[in-house]
Amino acid sequence: MSGLGNGLPRNGRPRTGAPVDLAVDCAGIRSPNPFWLASGPPTNTAGQVHRAFEAGWGGAVWKTLGDPITNTVSRYGGTAYQGRNVAGFNNIELITDRPLDVNLREIAEVKRVWPDRAVVASLMVESRDEWRDIIRRSEDTGCDGLELNFGCPHGMCERGMGSAVGQEPKVLEEIARWAAEFATTPVIVKLTPNITDILYPAMAAQRGGADAVSLVNTFKSVIGVDHDTLSPIPSVDGEGTSGGYCGPAVKPIALHMVTRLGKAPEFELPISGIGGVQSWEDALDFLLLGATSVQVCTAVMHYGFRIVEDLVRGLEEWMRRKGYARVDEFVGAALPNYREWGDLDLNYKIVAEIDPSTCIECQLCYAACEDGAHQCIELPGPTRVPRVVEERCVGCNLCQLVCPVEGCITMIEVETGLPRESWNDRVRKGTAGAGSTH
Ligand SMILES: Cc1cc2nc3c(=O)[nH]c(=O)nc-3n(C[C@H](O)[C@H](O)[C@H](O)COP(=O)(O)O)c2cc1C
Ligand code: SF4
Ligand code: SF4
Repeated sequence: MSGLGNGLPRNGRPRTGAPVDLAVDCAGIRSPNPFWLASGPPTNTAGQVHRAFEAGWGGAVWKTLGDPITNTVSRYGGTAYQGRNVAGFNNIELITDRPLDVNLREIAEVKRVWPDRAVVASLMVESRDEWRDIIRRSEDTGCDGLELNFGCPHGMCERGMGSAVGQEPKVLEEIARWAAEFATTPVIVKLTPNITDILYPAMAAQRGGADAVSLVNTFKSVIGVDHDTLSPIPSVDGEGTSGGYCGPAVKPIALHMVTRLGKAPEFELPISGIGGVQSWEDALDFLLLGATSVQVCTAVMHYGFRIVEDLVRGLEEWMRRKGYARVDEFVGAALPNYREWGDLDLNYKIVAEIDPSTCIECQLCYAACEDGAHQCIELPGPTRVPRVVEERCVGCNLCQLVCPVEGCITMIEVETGLPRESWNDRVRKGTAGAGSTH
């Protein structure tokens, strides 16, 4: 069992007040903390990256360099959900629209002023000669590494770049090999999530000689339709197209993909995790599931560079509480607890318990269990406080998830007296008969 099972690393002790070191080394790229700005609008100019580093960001992946493009107007869309703006974010923006030499001059200037921060040049070009040229010129800036953008799902893929490469492992492998041949700094391959199994392109990157992967780029999406003009959103003079989806809504899918790579024994490269991070808890999820650094774009576009203060402080406090001195002590620490479904214990049992003293009698739990689960919450009266019929409760968590009062419904462990037994154990014993999964 991992050290996190009891909340402490093996032999760990809370380190109240003790110094903790947030520095990381991701494939040879060092930064004073694991928090990097992802390639995007916040890393468009030197002025922004200077301010980001002043705020405390450990690294920045520059807005993707290449042949400067022309963007559409408008180009962003947001999903508002129950009063929260930008629960998900969609864009049809392309790579940098600024001349290459201007970007390169600014990268060199930023690196000179911030030698301890990770400055990574994100690149996207087409031919072998163009890759050789842009890698050489980028490395001349003194940058710490390169990120190959094989993930952009709109505009660039139609030109044979971005996700058109990320979705074709053979092409990805070949370009990664060129980059590995030309580069003297670490090469990170940025993967597109618009694929059935992220392991295929990740293995192609590894075979091609990449030093790390970063994931995810944005998910191909149509965010909605303007109900007056009937234009897909974002609307470009009454017309729209599919864009890339990101922000808090995509975090669970990004985490799944990071976990998929973290669990695959054949995949050995370091991971830079990206997708929906806006709090230190979000970032910690990525670290615990195997990411060495964590990149952020949408949350900075929403709240600004200063969110890094919460990321740094929150992670430091958690590390002290858990007795960790360095980040590499817990990178991937949750992976041993991630199992395939067939290996989970079918004899583990919990049931819901309602605390009448905090219940506000909204009866949401009753409606959820009655209509959407297993009909085991009753309204016995005379108050409106519901009651769980323990013998019928299957422990699905639904009532706890819908209850608006934190801590009002608790899931209580029930001792069954039965030994741990998984579906795969039953298959091995020949007792996995039809219907016995339910
Ligand atoms: C407006 C916008 C522009 C982006 N431009 C780039 C880009 O030029 N290169 C790149 O590799 N990723 C680009 N991305 C993707 C982000 O780097 C990141 O992978 C993605 O947004 C997921 O992270 P998030 O949920 O923190 O935003 C862009 C994202 C947004 C929202
Ligand atoms: S959802 Fe929570 S607060 Fe509402 S009735 Fe059920 S237990 Fe009480
Ligand atoms: S845990 Fe599921 S089955 Fe049990 S009371 Fe809640 S909703 Fe019903």
